[in-house]
Amino acid sequence: MYYPDEVIDEVRLQNDIVDVIGQYVALKKKGGTYFGLCPFHNEKTPSFSVTREKQMYYCFGCGKGGNVITFLKDYENYTFPEAVQALAERAGIRLPEKEESEEDRRRKALRDRILEVNKKAALYFYHQLKSERGKRAHDYFVGRGLSEETIVKFGLGYSNPYRDDLYRAMKKEGYEDGLLAQTGLFTIDERGAFDKFWNRAMFPIMDANKKVIAFGGRVMGEGEPKYLNSPETMIFDKSRNLYGLHLARSTRRDFFLVCEGYMDVIALHQAGFDNAVAALGTAFTPQHANLLRRFTSQVVLTLDSDGAGQKAALRAIPILRSAGLSVRVLDMKPYKDPDEFIKALGAEAYEQRIESAENFFLFEIRKMRERYDLSDPEQLTQFHRGIARRLLEFPEELERNNYLEAACRAYQIQPQQMKQLVVRMAARGYVPEPAEEPVRPAPVYKKKEKDGGLRQSQAILLTWLAEYPALYRALNGRLSPEDFSEGVYRRAAQLLWEQLAQGPADPARIIDRFAEDEEQYNEAAALFQARIDDVDSAQARVKAAEDAYRRVRRARLEQETRSADLAGLQKLLKQQEALKSFRLRPEDVSL
Ligand code: UTP
Ligand code: MN
Repeated sequence: MYYPDEVIDEVRLQNDIVDVIGQYVALKKKGGTYFGLCPFHNEKTPSFSVTREKQMYYCFGCGKGGNVITFLKDYENYTFPEAVQALAERAGIRLPEKEESEEDRRRKALRDRILEVNKKAALYFYHQLKSERGKRAHDYFVGRGLSEETIVKFGLGYSNPYRDDLYRAMKKEGYEDGLLAQTGLFTIDERGAFDKFWNRAMFPIMDANKKVIAFGGRVMGEGEPKYLNSPETMIFDKSRNLYGLHLARSTRRDFFLVCEGYMDVIALHQAGFDNAVAALGTAFTPQHANLLRRFTSQVVLTLDSDGAGQKAALRAIPILRSAGLSVRVLDMKPYKDPDEFIKALGAEAYEQRIESAENFFLFEIRKMRERYDLSDPEQLTQFHRGIARRLLEFPEELERNNYLEAACRAYQIQPQQMKQLVVRMAARGYVPEPAEEPVRPAPVYKKKEKDGGLRQSQAILLTWLAEYPALYRALNGRLSPEDFSEGVYRRAAQLLWEQLAQGPADPARIIDRFAEDEEQYNEAAALFQARIDDVDSAQARVKAAEDAYRRVRRARLEQETRSADLAGLQKLLKQQEALKSFRLRPEDVSL
């Protein structure tokens, strides 16, 4: 669903950012700016600022910033269209219906009808559980320690021991075979129509929006298979859904628990851990990780203590880390899973295990250690090499050293020797798979970045151009959007130039032009919030702005030099020379 720019602008105009954020955060006015406690990180003194004039917010503590739409998106974990819809509703704006193709409409109608059947099936199973026939299943759930409240909360049910009980109920409701065949609840062929689930304790699987999309059914007692699950359908993709997410999404805890099974999620929620989800016995996928990333930045893995569970944890870690999530691993020994652990030791003991959950890296090293006999010098050396190799996967030196020291402490290794080993391995050209950059939260730039700082310089220029109208007058003609890096920076510069040519800048508006692409949108939201350490006077700003301008222009000229002919080269050299004498005045970077 995508809305035209004018509609999004209207939604933003009709929802004053101070009013909207004021509903979530207590704001106090100081000068022209409102301050409150940041809802995106824990703090005791307010560093979260909102300005009515710019219609933007920014947290000096964690670096989160953006406009009223990005606020709702982050606070409520909405998608962009969901945030727009909520704000439109708040302001009484009618959003245009999306133009859709006939094909789209048919697919959507089919989806809706499959969802409808799933919902009816869930209700049907629930009623069976409550009826006389369902007593056995009800006893089963109660026998596993579930309260009545939990049974209702998770919509648990029972499927009768007849081969076409649900099928007949759905036919009575008027659904045709063609539709029913696509719900995953029946097998329909020449021999007839059969229910997929017979005589099982039923667990409806819901998506993040509480819609029933599939089922799991457990034999009550021993039997194979222990759990039977809906096959993949148009509405159910195992690799994209997490059991329990519809509840966990509104947890107040700042991390998620990831466990293995239906009963683990349910037992955890019942014990007060309302942040538990499960991938339901399937391998953890990047889609799962991205889904989680929408709701949290930290994961505590609480997969089964057996070999399979530990292997699954080792496989899940890099996937979660690639999505930018921080990961720790919880040890449930001597119990197998959260359900058993809580039954045996209770919620408080589990809470303690969360506290002492192991950092993912130390967990990985510990698992690696189990493969070696450390009393054998050769194997000991191999173990050390293994650690060094893993350490090389941290691109940042500081982070690498922190992990190095932690690993050395845990295994009584001399840090100096480990450092040498790492350096030697790097010198020999051992290149680990590049780990993807985690999402960078705060665009706070150090004054002296040694990477040339091109992007930082561009962000600073954009931020200050939006802030100080005089800077645009001073730089326009010398600097143009083409001087900015392709992608978000260039496009943002173009939009900013268009605005500045006609009047004041409106960065809140620019941000929304990137809404089609989640990643670009986040990058854009952070773009006009660039800060440099220790720059707090107009004089310091003059110096910083001059530096940024020179750096950006120099990069452009260098690029042009590569394709220039002789005459062109001479001109470029002259321009480079002229850059040196370029000066700004304090009033260019003041209000
Ligand atoms: P487990 O075998 O660990 O089951 O499988 P569990 O959750 O502890 O189940 P209980 O406590 O005996 O009832 C973990 C998950 O793997 C999937 C299910 O989602 C299960 O919750 N699974 C397991 C299946 O899909 N089919 C199976 O036959 C077994
Ligand atoms: Mn179990």
